Amino acid sequence: MNIAANPVVQAEQTVYLKDYEKPSFSVDSVHLDIQVYTDQTKVNSSLVMKRQNVGDLVLLGRDLELISLTLNGTRLSAADYQLDSEQLIINNAPDDVILNIEVIIHPESNTQLEGLYQAGSDLFVTQNEPEGFRKITFYPDRPDVLSVFTTRVEADTQFPVLLANGNLIEAGEAGTGRHYKIWQDPTKKPAYLFACVVGDLAVLKDQYVTSEGRHVALEIYAVEKDIPKCHIAMQALKHSMRWDEEHYGRAYDLDNYMIVATSAFNMGAMENKGLNIFNTSCVLADEEFTTDAAIMRVQSVIAHEYFHNWTGNRITCRDWFQLCLKEGLTVFRDQSFSEDLQSAAVQRIDDVAVLKGHQFPEDSGPLSHPPRPDHFVEINNFYTATVYEKGAEINRMMATLLGKEKFRQGTDEYFKRHDGQAVTVEDWVAALTAGSGVDLSKFLIWYNQPGTPKLEAQGEYNAEQQTCRLNFKQFLKAHPKYPNLQAVPIPVALALFNSETGEQYSLQCAALFENAVKDGLYLFDQDEASIEFSGITAKPVVSLLRNFSAPVNLDFNYSDEELAFLIQYETNGFNQWQAAQTLLERILLNGHEAHVYIAAIKNTLPQLVEKDPLLASRLFDVPNEGYLGSRIDQDYSPVTIQEQRNALLNTLARELGSFCKDTYLALDPLMQTEFSQAMGVRALKNIMLNMLARQGNTLAFDLAEEQYITTGNMSERLGALKVLVWNDAPQAQAVLADFYDRFKDEALALDQWFMVQASHPKATAATIEYLTSHPDYDLGTPNRIRAVSGGLNANPVNTWGFGVQHFIDLAKYLDKKNPIVGARLLQALSRWYTLAEPQRTEVKNALEALTTEVSSKNVVETLKSMLGI
Ligand code: BES
Ligand code: ZN
Repeated sequence: MNIAANPVVQAEQTVYLKDYEKPSFSVDSVHLDIQVYTDQTKVNSSLVMKRQNVGDLVLLGRDLELISLTLNGTRLSAADYQLDSEQLIINNAPDDVILNIEVIIHPESNTQLEGLYQAGSDLFVTQNEPEGFRKITFYPDRPDVLSVFTTRVEADTQFPVLLANGNLIEAGEAGTGRHYKIWQDPTKKPAYLFACVVGDLAVLKDQYVTSEGRHVALEIYAVEKDIPKCHIAMQALKHSMRWDEEHYGRAYDLDNYMIVATSAFNMGAMENKGLNIFNTSCVLADEEFTTDAAIMRVQSVIAHEYFHNWTGNRITCRDWFQLCLKEGLTVFRDQSFSEDLQSAAVQRIDDVAVLKGHQFPEDSGPLSHPPRPDHFVEINNFYTATVYEKGAEINRMMATLLGKEKFRQGTDEYFKRHDGQAVTVEDWVAALTAGSGVDLSKFLIWYNQPGTPKLEAQGEYNAEQQTCRLNFKQFLKAHPKYPNLQAVPIPVALALFNSETGEQYSLQCAALFENAVKDGLYLFDQDEASIEFSGITAKPVVSLLRNFSAPVNLDFNYSDEELAFLIQYETNGFNQWQAAQTLLERILLNGHEAHVYIAAIKNTLPQLVEKDPLLASRLFDVPNEGYLGSRIDQDYSPVTIQEQRNALLNTLARELGSFCKDTYLALDPLMQTEFSQAMGVRALKNIMLNMLARQGNTLAFDLAEEQYITTGNMSERLGALKVLVWNDAPQAQAVLADFYDRFKDEALALDQWFMVQASHPKATAATIEYLTSHPDYDLGTPNRIRAVSGGLNANPVNTWGFGVQHFIDLAKYLDKKNPIVGARLLQALSRWYTLAEPQRTEVKNALEALTTEVSSKNVVETLKSMLGI
């Protein structure tokens, strides 16, 4: 049957939320027998099924060789079922069914890294979310079918590690040179949480006792030489387990928790029940090989996957449209966890930077969709910044509004009502509402609409009456597919500061939520409204959206001096940073003077470096070219942005003068006892080194070289390497060669070697050609591809120059080999329509030409959305 050729079937490939129907059969239990051989894998399954609803018995399956099918003991023949490339339908199935299915699959040639696949010579792993299980065997592969899994895994004894979810119940020999293990997972789960691993790996072991007294064996599996790099992850795991008990009352529910590290992984990590599978980049961490930022990421990803045990696994999604139910909530939870690990303000800054740098652009362009989409062709394309980051923000808004205690009452109610179920976003909001006693139903609007709202605010001070009035309006950009946009509830956290003394006013205003005294919270949920404060004795400086209390674009008519005031006097670190960002954006995009900003940071820095060096370093965050470009909706010229940004950086370097050298020399990360503080000092030193190099001071190169040679810390080594390479210092080639020699056997560090060169501002097509034809380049390892292509994309001038062909060629290649990654990387070109001519038409033509050369649902859907067709 030729599906693609039939336009009707093509149209039917779109799945709609409104068409959801309950499954026709439940699976009460499933036994799997997975026998891995070098040239094939045999999968035998036995499913005990019961009718729940009208409709056919439908099993989904892809790329499977069906060997036999037996229903209630009778072998079925081709006349008893319909089989196509996507599904197996059994006609007239009785209400009680025991199905035995035998299939053969080929993990050894699976390059898509979905289903069961070979991940290097000594390892086989699974990745089943969202729809990978159907590549292992025929199954009702949908998240609302929950079952108890028993898994027998068999392989050659050269693979000593045989893992699956749950408890080990049996092990033994299986003929010459082969052995098996049987695992049973007592918790009902959907197939996307199934995992199994076959391989030759070493293990780091530890244990944890839960608040309920359960002894849990903790195991992290990795190749032998990486075991010493698993300790940070292990600590983070134990920390996460405690954190979830303390903050959400959630204890772990099995006797073991296993994590397996592999470099062959499309994403960051996966929360399979009791058997997480991680990209090495999200589990291995060691100061010598790993940057500070990457160490922080490891800890947050460990927490994220652990937190899914309750938000995702114990309570899962009814269907994939509800993806943000588990991802948005779990990201919010891991963000909160990370706020406890480092400067909370900086964690918030980093999270908002991702939101504004990725989600806002996505939501203002052709790939815009609601956090809960209502249709898709390929669900893998919807693991987006909108689902994840905006989804997290919706939860954060509700949590902010409720406050700690009521939010906890709400989440308690959610776990009480829905443990063991597959639910929807409505169920989540209803449980929060019932548990807290606060009606949150209006927040559902956020889930169902696309676009970033604009919040326009205005302040009016009346000196005579000592009042300050704030007027709010919200605007939503019209969207052709969503004609009835409604006003959303926007929690506005705010403060007023006395412009003469710098002190924060106590707020008196009946309209504030919760009668907060100092930290005011106003819930703005109409198209337009005003509030008034009394007792404002001198002209106030208004600080809005403190801690970024809502994911909106704020438009408030600050003067540059007011922004400088906030850099110095705001007590909310996030808003200090936001003020600096707003000011820098004005200097960059609107030609404002830089000296107001420079004076403000010079005043602020000395105390801040003492208190929170990491936050201090963030005050120098000059928005990157990609972000600046994303703020421009038409006639975007990457070259102009680059010139403007370089001009600003040169001005800053010049005006900061000897401050850079003095600060660099005065700071020593070894003087810090806390990791987070030391990380701040390292960040600040690297910034100063960069500025020094920009001053044209060759001393900078000597200092960088010395830093490179003497340090044992990757943030310092890489920071120095970048300064030397990106400035074409005389030492550049020597340190690059040294870096390669040191780390050629450390894949993740070697990724950095590729990245530094690919992200050279003056990289050319030849640079990329050199890197991609290097013997260590590997199109089978997504991390390596991302190192080069992601590096290239750090410079929009390059992306929109020689990069266009690079991304198109890559999409063409990955369309066949690994379409999930192909579709993602192609998005580097999604803002083509904002470019100035003739670039705009050139890129458009190239993308249009690509449409005839790709065939995967992933790449086709992404490409069509990008082109608006
Ligand atoms: N459930 C996802 C993993 C996943 C992503 C499976 C896409 C299938 C398709 C996992 O919990 C996750 O969200 N991982 C993130 C990292 C996390 C810290 C946000 C990832 O892999 O990027
Ligand atoms: Zn997740």
